[in-house]
Amino acid sequence: MDPVKVGVLGLGTVGGGTVNVLQRNAEEIARRAGRGIVVSHAAARDLNKPRICDTSGIQLTTDPVDVVNDPDIAIVIELIGGDKLAYELVMKAIENGKHIVTANKALIAKHGNEIFSAAQDRGVIVAFEAAVAGGIPVIKAIREGLAGNQIEWLAGIINGTGNFILTEMRDKGRDFDDVLKEAQALGYAEADPTFDVEGIDAAHKLTILASIAFGIPLQFDAAYTEGITRITREDVTYAEELGYRIKHLGVTRRTDRGVELRVHPTLIPERRLIANVDGVMNAVLVKGDAVGPTLYYGAGAGDEPTASAVVADVVDVVRVLTSDPENRVPHLAFQPDSLSDLPILTMSEVETSYYLRMQAKDEPGVLADVTRILGDKGISIEAIIQKEPADDSSEAVVILLTHEVLEQQMDEAIEQIEALATISGHVTRIRMERLDAS
Ligand code: NDP
Ligand code: HSE
Repeated sequence: MDPVKVGVLGLGTVGGGTVNVLQRNAEEIARRAGRGIVVSHAAARDLNKPRICDTSGIQLTTDPVDVVNDPDIAIVIELIGGDKLAYELVMKAIENGKHIVTANKALIAKHGNEIFSAAQDRGVIVAFEAAVAGGIPVIKAIREGLAGNQIEWLAGIINGTGNFILTEMRDKGRDFDDVLKEAQALGYAEADPTFDVEGIDAAHKLTILASIAFGIPLQFDAAYTEGITRITREDVTYAEELGYRIKHLGVTRRTDRGVELRVHPTLIPERRLIANVDGVMNAVLVKGDAVGPTLYYGAGAGDEPTASAVVADVVDVVRVLTSDPENRVPHLAFQPDSLSDLPILTMSEVETSYYLRMQAKDEPGVLADVTRILGDKGISIEAIIQKEPADDSSEAVVILLTHEVLEQQMDEAIEQIEALATISGHVTRIRMERLDAS
């Protein structure tokens, strides 16, 4: 059988890695797919730029539409990024009857409902394993491996850049901006790195995971997003003194009232495996009612780890090229006419525990005022530590861990605490997740 010809949009970190893996492992990939797979056409902005891959034998263009319209191509691999041009190219490719493989989480989280519907109508596949957690096949695991379960919740470190920054800051005391520059040089960061450090990229990925886990439409706009830029070295140290690590987590949980969908820095007990996932590595903990907790771990970014997921999708597409479109694995795991309308909860409706840090005047009665406010709101305290004022200061640092409470109660308590004359500045609040099997 003739090899399947594929077109690649973008020859940067992931595009270059994908060409390398497809070329290096061509023989083994053909044995798995049942046919050879050849990159025959590719697009990039600047054809004179040095590439990490060998492009000889590939027709190159600066106009990605050439690739999308190439009649010889069966699969378009979209690795340009962004959600405007990529959206137009993917929709055009679908209209042209091409199967799509993409690593673009922004595209899927924001336009996936429409893209999947168009693909369904046209009878083509849209595969996006590389869009979540880099090289970890977590979409396949949830969509296929856990298909017998009711997924109760999942929580993940799903941004490699952010985890790399937090790890380097903690382990080596490095400066935030300095580590971010290194992550960019290594090809981990998004074109706009605020997507990584403000949690937008993680929210894109979490949106996708929640849909696949719970069978709900993609609802990126309903995700709560908080980044890591306000985490201080002191918070990291205090958390460790209390037996916790701070990780930037995406958490989604099915409750009786709706679905939690949130990305924020989170204290996790240090004994949990996920608390020890460092550097660019990602991990996703998925709790199913039948299987219990399961953990998926691997590189969350980088050229070849991501290419691993891209190429696996290409192999899947090649394997099913001849199968009945109605019987393929559905894009969001559930059949399109069986998606549920479970609401996404606002943050004020979410229940978690908290780490609170505040600057307090070193006077009698201050702690009593704080604990009274928390008590009045029904918030019980798990631990308190007070750090004596530094020599040049009259203010002590107070750190509290609380038990679970509705976020609205905590918002009101924090407002009252910040209004106390004995408390200066804002209260730092970091949510906590125990991530145990219950
Ligand atoms: P890069 O910036 O490294 O690569 C983007 C590529 O797209 C470049 O080759 C660029 O060309 C090309 N390109 C951009 N605009 C155009 C255009 N108008 N016409 C033609 N070519 C264009 O990005 P990444 O490889 O890092 O990311 C690609 C996608 O993969 C993104 O969606 C990203 O979110 C996702 N992703 C990235 C991961 C990573 O580790 N980097 C991991 C998982 C997903 P040129 O090189 O000439 O500038
Ligand atoms: N910028 C992303 C990250 C790439 O750092 O996780 C992988 O999706």
